Order: sequence, then structure tokens, then C-alpha cells
Amino acid sequence: MQETMELKQRIQELMSLLEAFKQLNSNIEIEDVFQDILLQMVNVLGAEAGTLWVLDNGREVIQAVAAHGKSASKVLHFEMAKGEGIVGQVVASGVEQLIGDASVHPQWANRVDSTSGFVTKSMITVPLAAKGHVLGALQLLNKTGGGLFSGQDMRIALALASQSALALHNSQMFDEVSRMLLSMIRTLAKILDARDPYTAGHSERVAQYSLAIAQRTGMDGHECEELYRAALLHDIGKIGIADDVLRKPAKLTRKEYEDIKLHTVIGAGILSNMEPKAAMANAIATARSHHERLDGSGYPDALKGEDIPLFARIVGIADAFDAMTTARSYSKGLPLREAAAELIRCKDTLFDAALVNAFIEVLEESDYQVGKGFGEITMGYGL
Ligand SMILES: [Fe+2]
Repeated sequence: MQETMELKQRIQELMSLLEAFKQLNSNIEIEDVFQDILLQMVNVLGAEAGTLWVLDNGREVIQAVAAHGKSASKVLHFEMAKGEGIVGQVVASGVEQLIGDASVHPQWANRVDSTSGFVTKSMITVPLAAKGHVLGALQLLNKTGGGLFSGQDMRIALALASQSALALHNSQMFDEVSRMLLSMIRTLAKILDARDPYTAGHSERVAQYSLAIAQRTGMDGHECEELYRAALLHDIGKIGIADDVLRKPAKLTRKEYEDIKLHTVIGAGILSNMEPKAAMANAIATARSHHERLDGSGYPDALKGEDIPLFARIVGIADAFDAMTTARSYSKGLPLREAAAELIRCKDTLFDAALVNAFIEVLEESDYQVGKGFGEITMGYGL
């Protein structure tokens, strides 16, 4: 009888573990991964509270990135030195700890309890290690029902921790690669803008304006990030335009104007060399079509209305606004409110009215303060 009961409980635990593994691998957003890991652990093992600590290698600090339980809001974002308290020891050594009574344990950092007001009795702390590196630790506090955590609980915690660490590792890698990609694209855009003193910062501003429009129209986070990158690269084809044409202070001849118009086609060509192809599709379309206008008067394909890709319609508005409001060799640049009035005048003929309206709303709300904080990209963890 006793054996049957134990077997049943073991099966129950294994089922919970399987479910937890499934959930862990279904998310790539790092905050969601943190939350998933912690909740699975708390549920499978039955704990009153739990905290997920992640090591910030650069600063040698561990930070509570997810917390569950009564005092969760006070524990969240709490920082400790690597090596401080039990969790710090686990992160530093990579060795798990099972503690019956935390209050009398010599390594217990009661700095956390005195901040949160939570009384810790028993505790499991397991390292999150992947590819030979400790990424953080999971701490479970007070077994629900009043008992103490057992060796069996520890085995389950370790199994779950090894899966969690992989999910965390993947998510951190994804975050790192995304940040690297964005910084490389930004650098490329800066190099491009630096060719002409009048266009300094143009690509970054166009990306910010585009993002502000997209966010206002309710575009989701991933699409916003993709649009931001596409907007940074919209004029990349200007690399293929000769300096004496690009930087000519006087009026362009018809031939020179035709040459400049080619930057759209050249840009799409450059971006179509980049991999993976499917991920570049929107950036290619944006580079090619950001000078198309709703009434078909744009270039290079004289597209009309919604035949112009959405990203290109957004970037086209942002680009026109920045072109109107920045000084050129031949003009001083319009005040922001006058440029906004010009966009309104041209909505439905040149620009998508709904997108212009969204942009004007954001401009009005910010009282035309388009400096820092306007259309700012926030992506992934810690950026
Ligand atoms: Fe352009």
C-alpha cells in the first residue's frame, strides 16, 4: 500500500516535470522565461515562495529577476554580491544546498528577510548551470503544508534546474545576438549618415519616428523591432551613389536626380544579399518602397495605396518629416509643427491618413519634444 502511494506520487511528480519542460521550451522572451522557470519550480515542489536569481557577470552581482510569494514585490530586483549569503555561495560554487532551518544557518543572508518581512524556515537552493557556466540560482522557500524539503525534492529541483538553465541560456544568447545585430545595424546607419554632414543622425531619427508611429497603431513588440531595424537601413542604397551627386549643394540636374532615385533599388539589392532571406523581406521592401506615394507619384515602381508595403508607408512618413525638419544646404528646415501640418495636408494623397494621424497624435502628446525618449526602442532583457 505504502509502495503504491509512493509510486503514485512519483508519477505525479514526473508528470509535473514533463509539463514544466514543455512550458520552458515554448518561450523566448527572457522575462517570460524567468517567470515560467520560477512558477514551474514552485508548483512542482510546493513552496510558499521562490526567487530566481541571475548572475550579472560584468558586475559580479546576482539579481532577483523573478519572485513569487507574499513578499515578491519587495524581493524583485534585490541585488547581492556574488558569494553573499546562501544563494551567492551556490552561484559561486555551483553546488546545491538543502537547508532545514535557514535562520540558524551561518551563511544565511537575512538582509533579504529583513527587507521583505518574509520568515524563511526551510530552503532549497539549486544552481542554474549550462555549458559549464553558472548563470544563476533558483531558491525555494518553506515547503507548503509546513514540512521540510526532502532529498527527493532536491532531486526534482536539480532535474528542473538543468532544463531551466538551458532555456535561460538560449534566451540570453538570443538576447545577446539581437543586441549585437541592432548595434551593427546602427553602426552601419551612422557610417552612411556621416557621408553627408546634413544627414547626420537621419537614419536614427527616421527609425525613432517610425517606431513611434508603429507603437501608436498597436504593432506588436517583435514587429516594432523589425520595423526599427528596417528603418535604420532604409537609405543603405546611398552607399552606391557618388559623393559629388549625394553632397551636391546646388540643384540637381534631371540625370543626377534619376541617379539618386536609384538608391532605393540599390538598397534593396544590398539587403537581399543578407541572410536569412525571410527575416530580411520587410527591410528589403522598405528600402525599395519608402519613396512610393499613395497616389502613385512615387518611385521606383509607382505603387499605389496599400500596394505600398506597410513598413515602407510608415518609414516614408518618418523620412519626409525628418527631411522637412532638418537643415539642408539649400534650406534651413521647417519648424516641427509646420512639417506636421504639411503631412496632414498631404494625407490621403501622398501619405496613409491613419498612419499620419497616429504620428501627429504622438507628436502632439509629446508637445513636439522629439529628443531622447521619443520612439525609443526597448528590446529584450536589460536594454
Ligand atoms: Fe531615401
